[in-house]
Amino acid sequence: RHLCCPGTVAANVGSEEQPLGGSEDKIPKKRFSEVQEERREQAQRTVLIRCPNNVNEKKFLKYLSQHGPINNHFFYESFGLHAVVEFCQKDSVDSLQNGTHTPKQRTDPVIPFKSRFLNLKLKNSSNQIPQQSYAQTNKQLPPSSKKLFELLNYAENIDDQLNTLLKAFQLTEENVRLRHLTCSLIEDIAAAYFPGCVIWPFGSSVNTFGKLGCDLDMFLDLDEIGKLDVHKNAGDFLMEFQMKTVPSERIATQKILSVIGECIDNFGPSCVGVQKILNARCPLLRFSHQASGFQCDLTVNNSIALKSSELLYIYGSLDSRVRALVFSVRCWARAHSLTSSIPGTWITNFSLTVMVIFFLQRRSPPILPTLDSLKSLADAEDRCILNGHNCTFVRDLYKIKPSGNTETLELLLKEFFEYFGNFAFNKNSINIRQGKEQNKPDSSPLYIQNPFETSLNISKNVSQSQLQKFVDLARDSAWILEQEDKSQPSLSSKQPWGLATLLLPPGAVSTPLSKKKKKPMNEKVKGLLASIKSSTTDSSKGTHGK
Ligand code: CTP
Ligand code: MG
Repeated sequence: RHLCCPGTVAANVGSEEQPLGGSEDKIPKKRFSEVQEERREQAQRTVLIRCPNNVNEKKFLKYLSQHGPINNHFFYESFGLHAVVEFCQKDSVDSLQNGTHTPKQRTDPVIPFKSRFLNLKLKNSSNQIPQQSYAQTNKQLPPSSKKLFELLNYAENIDDQLNTLLKAFQLTEENVRLRHLTCSLIEDIAAAYFPGCVIWPFGSSVNTFGKLGCDLDMFLDLDEIGKLDVHKNAGDFLMEFQMKTVPSERIATQKILSVIGECIDNFGPSCVGVQKILNARCPLLRFSHQASGFQCDLTVNNSIALKSSELLYIYGSLDSRVRALVFSVRCWARAHSLTSSIPGTWITNFSLTVMVIFFLQRRSPPILPTLDSLKSLADAEDRCILNGHNCTFVRDLYKIKPSGNTETLELLLKEFFEYFGNFAFNKNSINIRQGKEQNKPDSSPLYIQNPFETSLNISKNVSQSQLQKFVDLARDSAWILEQEDKSQPSLSSKQPWGLATLLLPPGAVSTPLSKKKKKPMNEKVKGLLASIKSSTTDSSKGTHGK
């Protein structure tokens, strides 16, 4: 592996070892755009192959090597065995495709769309192997809760527990590759209409806060097409394309998504359940890509959301405690049904992440800088204005001074719960641009200012009762950690302790949490009703960047 390609990606997102605590992170920190470009190029040299379970790995690789050297490969399960194979050169993919057949001996006619998702057939049984030597598969999902509790119980202390949870849930190198490959496969479909377009992943797939199993947010970038070849533009004339006009940007987006949606639905191998959610504030296509197992959301020209993913990437890379804390808070919220995969009036992972960032800006000394201070470190090249919004901040991680704060994760987690258990949500808004509370500009129960579109609230959907539930649970959790402090568990203990206690369902611990045993049911019903209401008014998830 990694023998022949000079440009092999050293992932910033992925399976690298995270040093425990402190800010002495020695991993080379690449710029976000560099990582994304490299990943995209890597995905273009990669194919996805559906394989029979009993494929002989050695022979399979030898067979593929006819088309050129292979840089990397792995197998995984999703509706059958699949292989992701990355060649060293893009030419090899063309060569492989040239030697690939359109399916024959089928009863059903096929749509002859030739993609980089292929199907491997065995010609003779000598390529088969006994069951015990089947190819090793790589897991694309997080550990079960039983396994997680085991892992947490083995940890030495609460800091170790938070880092253990991070390691168990963060996206692996292979999962990151698969995400970029899936975008690349969808890009091939979109490029049939818009040659030169790019589909970028954004959101938790790239912002360093992705959990195994999270959705794949992608956006179709048509601006890349507009990049001119200035050298050929000299002289007295200017040439423009003849193009159709429409009454608004929104209508253009809806038309593009509608047609691409049809294409994905009708021609995209393995793309199923395509939904066009075109009346949402930010129109999107939602579908599942069965072969990769990802639930995909595709939007158009959503560059502010990509910029906010870059900002989170910077925050996540600055100090190794940030991701550990965010992952634990997200898992805690999920365990207590504060978040849900159904859109509704609950808090989102994105809002929770911004709340953790805000909290870390409020420490003394601060663990994270404010967005305004990241802006003041920016140079001319970092300048970025999108749709009239100033999205400028420093992109070179080395220009940001590490924090002198040495607080432990255990302390930070407890203080996080205490801080938000007592936050004046009725009066104040959360603002990571200035890193301080501001007066709320409207009466939304939870107001978290969108860092770039500063007149928007990213948690506008959250109801008073969901916020109250968050506050109650935060207080209870702070109390539990306080008690833990007093009674250190013995290492041989089979009882859940520390972080594990916080992740248990309500009622399972004899703490203030159990006093509310009856309550979650009501909340659940209320929440479901609210979610039905909100999805019929189509304010559902289509609020990316809005
Ligand atoms: N986004 C936003 N404003 C919102 C919701 C989303 O700007 N109100 C942007 C953020 O950049 C976010 C991205 O859209 O990261 C994707 O949204 P979503 O999938 O809801 O959040 P993720 O961060 O991807 O988290 P998850 O793991 O829950 O998918
Ligand atoms: Mg997402």
